[in-house]
Amino acid sequence: MADKFGRFTKRARRVLVLAQEEARRLNQNYIGTEHLLLGLIREENSVAVKVLRELGVEPQRVKDIVERTVEQGQWTRPKLTLTPRTKRVIELAVDEARRMSHHYIGTEHLLLGLMREGEGVAVNVLGSMGVNLEKVRAQTRHLKAEGLVEKGFREADQATYRLYPNVQLGENAQIGDYVIIGHPPRGKKPGELPVVIGDNAVIRSHTVIYAGTVIGHNFQTGHRATIREGNRIGDDVSVGTGVTIDNDCQIGNDVRFRGHDLIGEYTVIEDGCWIGPHVAITNVFHPRCPKAKECMKGPTLKRGAKIGANSTLLPDITIGEMALVGAGSVVADDVPSRAVVVGNPAKVVKTIDELECPYGLVERPYEENRAQV
Ligand SMILES: CC(C)(COP(=O)(O)OP(=O)(O)OC[C@H]1O[C@@H](n2cnc3c(N)ncnc32)[C@H](O)[C@@H]1OP(=O)(O)O)[C@@H](O)C(=O)NCCC(=O)NCCS
Repeated sequence: MADKFGRFTKRARRVLVLAQEEARRLNQNYIGTEHLLLGLIREENSVAVKVLRELGVEPQRVKDIVERTVEQGQWTRPKLTLTPRTKRVIELAVDEARRMSHHYIGTEHLLLGLMREGEGVAVNVLGSMGVNLEKVRAQTRHLKAEGLVEKGFREADQATYRLYPNVQLGENAQIGDYVIIGHPPRGKKPGELPVVIGDNAVIRSHTVIYAGTVIGHNFQTGHRATIREGNRIGDDVSVGTGVTIDNDCQIGNDVRFRGHDLIGEYTVIEDGCWIGPHVAITNVFHPRCPKAKECMKGPTLKRGAKIGANSTLLPDITIGEMALVGAGSVVADDVPSRAVVVGNPAKVVKTIDELECPYGLVERPYEENRAQV
């Protein structure tokens, strides 16, 4: 049960336990949709009960009608089983959460699952009280827009992260404490712009990802990364602790940001690039000039380029393929492919093919076709 119901909120799990209790109380050998409904309404402060109340449904009245509808059974088996319909309701609840881009399954999804199943005692009882799937969906969305669904979840699971509406998270995401995903950029409403993040994301504590950004699979952040709106980020990208990626950057696949970097707006970083710690990537020659926003242009880092620690890249330059910028450089001009540059202003000192491992571990650190680590 632990794994299968791992993404269920505490309240939703409690509803399943209460459903068992209700089945026993009514002397039945199975857990049907009617018991699930009775369990749901016993979880007084749940989002599901809030939705029902908003639709004019009083829990006590539901209880009365269900008890009048079902006959007292003759309990014989020590172990209760879920009816096929109840199993389907649970599957539908998981699907409802997925459709709403919720990373958890709460009581509201169980209620939606009950309604979507379309048959069974629960849906008949609620139907007789004027409730239908569309109304439950609309009311759930309404409460969600007011932040109530998330609030209910945080209360239920002590989760401290916040997912705004319109966040589409892939499978197997791990979200750390105090993470915020979908923060609206200035002038936008919550949920107005989507965030799309692929499968297997590991987003560590205190990271903030703004709405309007699309990120591929196997994404990782360290702690306290900030990723602004309008970014396009490929697969297998790692954004280290304290990195800020300003808006509207294009970042390819298999890119690493080591930590505490500032990546200015409109930077283009191609596949396989590596950005060392404390790198500043700039995008305006004359800060605060009245026309600064019109000429803003970040550098372009071509495939496999590597930027040493604590370097500064000036705006609108190109770092060639596989080029290596030495630690602490200030790069003011284009860097040719495979060049090694150092200093302030950075000058070409050799090519990467001339580099030798000081420890003799490899003949050449950057041989063509060798997989990069
Ligand atoms: C630039 C770099 C690749 C040079 O590598 P290399 O050529 O094998 O290094 P060498 O030790 O042979 O140095 C060659 C010369 O360049 C100088 N030099 C090396 N790195 C330099 C740098 N970053 N800035 C200025 N000069 C540098 C050396 O002092 C030496 O000068 P000399 O010939 O007058 O004695 C390397 O020093 C570097 O900066 N790598 C990036 C490191 C980094 O940021 N790592 C992040 C890990 S978290």
